Amino acid sequence: MKTTEIRIVLQEFENIDELPVNDQHLLTEARKITTSAYAPYSGFHVGAAIQLGNGMIIKGNNQENSAYPSGLCAERVAMFYANANYPDSEVKAIAVSAAKNGVLVNEAVKPCGSCRQALAETEVRFNTPIRIILDGQDSIIVLQGVESLLPLSFSRRDI
Ligand code: THU
Repeated sequence: MKTTEIRIVLQEFENIDELPVNDQHLLTEARKITTSAYAPYSGFHVGAAIQLGNGMIIKGNNQENSAYPSGLCAERVAMFYANANYPDSEVKAIAVSAAKNGVLVNEAVKPCGSCRQALAETEVRFNTPIRIILDGQDSIIVLQGVESLLPLSFSRRDI
């Protein structure tokens, strides 16, 4: 028997002004798009902004449904739109923000398992690490790739 420890590395920033300028810009876009989320059931408004290799920023927010599982998270709304419309452009970074009653959440927002898997797929697809910026009042967390968000992930390499 052998025990292996897997490390994840994350950076924490106290506020948006501490981030590198590109991250500040992307996170500002994510914050803005929270306001048009369709979240009448949870009241949890999430925004995601994606930086593509071609220079474009693609935005999305959560879209809920009275049949709850038919809704979709902000990250996947943005990611699927980006991959559908710009299939040749790699995803370089994603910023995610979330607000309750119009106020930024305290703890950095944490993407759900399905979104982590979708991010992992895109990273493998373009063979480019995705920088992940997660917004919160207490701290903003930055990860250098999906491996830190979803260690031991299943991918096409396993098939
Ligand atoms: N949600 C997201 O859009 N992204 C996340 O990272 C966490 C959760 C959405 C799904 C649902 O519309 C609402 O937040 C409450 O779970």
